[in-house]
Amino acid sequence: MSEQVLSSELEGSAGGLEKALRPKGFDDYVGQREIKENLGVFVDAARQRNNALCHVLLHGPPGLGKTSLAHVVAHEMGSELFVTSGPSLERQGDLAGILTGLEHGSILFIDEIHRLSPVVEENLYSAMEDFRFDVVIGDGPGARTVPITLEPFTLIGATTRTGLLTGPLRDRFGYTARLEYYDVQELGFIIERSANLLSLDIVEAATAELAKRSRGTPRIANRLLRRVRDYAQVVGSGRVDLQITRHALERLGVDALGLDRLDLTYLNCLINQFQGGPVGIETLSAAVAEQADTLQDVCEPYLMKLGFLQRTPRGRQATERAFAHLGCQPSPGFQSGMPDF
Ligand SMILES: Nc1ncnc2c1ncn2[C@@H]1O[C@H](COP(=O)(O)OP(=O)(O)OP(=O)(O)O)[C@@H](O)[C@H]1O
Ligand SMILES: [Mg+2]
Repeated sequence: MSEQVLSSELEGSAGGLEKALRPKGFDDYVGQREIKENLGVFVDAARQRNNALCHVLLHGPPGLGKTSLAHVVAHEMGSELFVTSGPSLERQGDLAGILTGLEHGSILFIDEIHRLSPVVEENLYSAMEDFRFDVVIGDGPGARTVPITLEPFTLIGATTRTGLLTGPLRDRFGYTARLEYYDVQELGFIIERSANLLSLDIVEAATAELAKRSRGTPRIANRLLRRVRDYAQVVGSGRVDLQITRHALERLGVDALGLDRLDLTYLNCLINQFQGGPVGIETLSAAVAEQADTLQDVCEPYLMKLGFLQRTPRGRQATERAFAHLGCQPSPGFQSGMPDF
């Protein structure tokens, strides 16, 4: 198996730290209770029958713990985890190499599974359904198919949006889980755990402040914690207190609700340049000079969760709450985005 196709993890110091903070088992994996409970049952059932776990699809915005959950499931199953991603599986041979190397019960994690090439995706169908890989030998009229039998394995796919997956692929997963944003208490637990692992002296009020301003996202919580630690070390006394936390977050451009620069640019543009909308995503994307995909995957789910944004058939529309957050008044004719059917 080539290294680009199958990489276990990012290395380097940031990657190493990321790895250290990653939860090991269900007990360390905070929140997502329903998903954990369901997976716990499926894991127990599969282990009792000595079967491979069913195929699992994880979806949700970046940083909510999809990759971490795949590691946790592998740990709980006592199975080996192989990690790859949609874009790195370009050719049929890339997939064949990986699948034929899997053992009974191995788990294959494919990140960004919506970015598989059509030919690789088609091969995955029979692999998932019948544990069979059809190798095509030759081409034209003389081409023949040689089926290779695979060991029963589990595919865990991750994507930021299930809407981008084709129907046939989606249908082949035995369990689909949508990860939700974390609440402040859950983020507080994650920050406490990370602070412990980093041997960091942090006061409770600082943990609470960070949790409130982490955008419901564990990756952001951990990232902000590390940046606040830098400020505490260089500007403060080393101890992470509320004052240094607020100072650092202000410097980092994170607002009281956890909105970052990109979220605020998006909202400002929608409200000030387009009078709150409705405006098409492509137009917004050009106006804020950011890819439409990034806006859709990263900014919009959180703005919608806060009740700041609505997607209507005519485009994106800000709500009155969003105007209020930016301290702006909607113009007299503004109608807060009710979908118009
Ligand atoms: N439930 C959780 N409990 C504790 N820590 C978590 C949890 N979920 C995520 N984390 C932390 O957040 C970091 C980012 O999570 P992860 O890489 O799993 O997100 P992701 O959903 O795969 O993101 P992406 O869509 O960008 O691939 C992890 O390294 C881990 O430290
Ligand atoms: Mg991931």
